[in-house]
Amino acid sequence: MKKPPPRPDVAPAPTAVEVAITSSAQLRRQGVLTLAVPAGRIRDEAIELFGRAGIDLSPADKARAGRRLIIPVDREQLRVLIVRDTDVPAYVEHGAADIGIAGRDVLDEQDRDLYEPLDLGIGRCRLAVAEPIDRPIDEGAHLHLRYATKFAEITRRWLQQRGTVAEVIKLYGSLEIAPLVGLADRIVDIVSTGETLRQHRLREVETIMEVSARLCVGRAAAKLMAGRVDGLVARLRKVLTPHR
Ligand code: PRP
Repeated sequence: MKKPPPRPDVAPAPTAVEVAITSSAQLRRQGVLTLAVPAGRIRDEAIELFGRAGIDLSPADKARAGRRLIIPVDREQLRVLIVRDTDVPAYVEHGAADIGIAGRDVLDEQDRDLYEPLDLGIGRCRLAVAEPIDRPIDEGAHLHLRYATKFAEITRRWLQQRGTVAEVIKLYGSLEIAPLVGLADRIVDIVSTGETLRQHRLREVETIMEVSARLCVGRAAAKLMAGRVDGLVARLRKVLTPHR
């Protein structure tokens, strides 16, 4: 059978060395820093930001990396791991990545043992409470409100601070439909443009927190790679606050 021509949009197959199982601890001993980056929009913004700081992460660009999730960036003595945004803190806390990029929402929700030396100012959005436009809630009149959210811990803390007793229902996605089909009275979700809320006839009631992505550092890296980590933080800080 005739072989199909190679697809031009597919990244070249990684070499054996690139996919060889190398623990981050092993690479750390060789001076290679492992960085966990969330897939999605933050990945593009992070590559752009690091580029401005003179750190070329372009091999981790989606167009170049294709479906690869472990990407060596030899020129920078770095290795990038592409992981789910909510998984970044786990990789960093356990030392499988030295540093990571994660939203304030994810970091606050998980409250792990990590250093957060820098707010990167990328991936800006807000965590907000929303309810159906057609069914506004009178908090005084409702005895048992239900809040659906992916951010159960943050929501519980927020309710506690307000002295409100309510039920928190943990969901993993498509939150907007929860108040429309009777699962919850309100949702606590990420709002960026507000389009998703509008499309489901929901309105924002209150902002719980402004969100942006932060650099997080694990204990092992902070101790064993202090020089590399401090250097990286200093270079990023310079482009984030150029007047300093
Ligand atoms: C978030 C959030 C909303 C949407 C809001 O989901 O859960 O669904 O973005 O954005 P908007 O205000 O611009 O409409 P995301 O796209 O991060 O996907 P996820 O549900 O997988 O987290």
